[in-house]
Amino acid sequence: MLVAEGLTKRFGGLLAVSDASVTVAKGAIVGLIGPNGAGKTTLFAMIAGFHRPDAGRVTFQGEDITGLAPEEICRRGLVRTFQLVQPFAGLTVRENIAIGAHLRHPGRTAALEAAERVAERVGLGAELTKPAADLTIAGRKRLELARALATEPTLILLDEVMAGLNPTEIAEIIPVVQGIRAGGVTVLLIEHVMQAVMSLAEDVFVLNQGRMIAHGAPADLVRDPQVIEAYLGHGAAERLAGAHG
Ligand SMILES: Nc1ncnc2c1ncn2[C@@H]1O[C@H](COP(=O)(O)OP(=O)(O)O)[C@@H](O)[C@H]1O
Ligand SMILES: [Mg+2]
Repeated sequence: MLVAEGLTKRFGGLLAVSDASVTVAKGAIVGLIGPNGAGKTTLFAMIAGFHRPDAGRVTFQGEDITGLAPEEICRRGLVRTFQLVQPFAGLTVRENIAIGAHLRHPGRTAALEAAERVAERVGLGAELTKPAADLTIAGRKRLELARALATEPTLILLDEVMAGLNPTEIAEIIPVVQGIRAGGVTVLLIEHVMQAVMSLAEDVFVLNQGRMIAHGAPADLVRDPQVIEAYLGHGAAERLAGAHG
């Protein structure tokens, strides 16, 4: 469904993403992990049209979408969420979601109705008339999810929707993500919470210092010395092997 090949992005002298490739099959939940600053968000931004890649190509549903505007990519069914959520604080939850719904439902009433259906899917059905500013962090994360879902994507890119949540809130949002997939939307998610990635994704890509260093099933990756090193620092794999062996 999505094939990103050789994506590269420089910010001045900084090589944020270097020759990174990702493949997502239709119907999957795929994870993208890596330490802070690895380039995960930048990779999402290139896929979704927010940054033009310096090199590489993005193919979505068989069509080259490299360099298209985010609105056009969204219209084709690929949407991303933002790590830093910024809802319109003065608008209600329903109105915020309706902004996303406008893409497929140009009339105000239809957009608001579509927004209500999406709110139910993410567990915000009881908070429709609340100002977005009154939501908890967990509520804001759900709202960000809902705004993206309201564009009726076939592929959604989730950027750390669990960051800042407590273990209970994380446990509550996992079935929401599973429900999104069950509803026919393919998911690519950036996540720091390892336990969540393990329980959600069948396939995981690992980015470190802009490069894709590993790819595979989560159970295999946690035993991959390169992955352990990336997370815990140089020599960690050997130290762990020593400690356990
Ligand atoms: N718009 C930007 N301008 C300059 N540097 C950026 C910009 N966005 C990200 N970076 C830098 O690129 C690197 C990768 O950032 P990012 O993609 O946000 O990583 P991650 O999401 O994996 O934490 C970091 O060093 C970050 O400081
Ligand atoms: Mg990020």
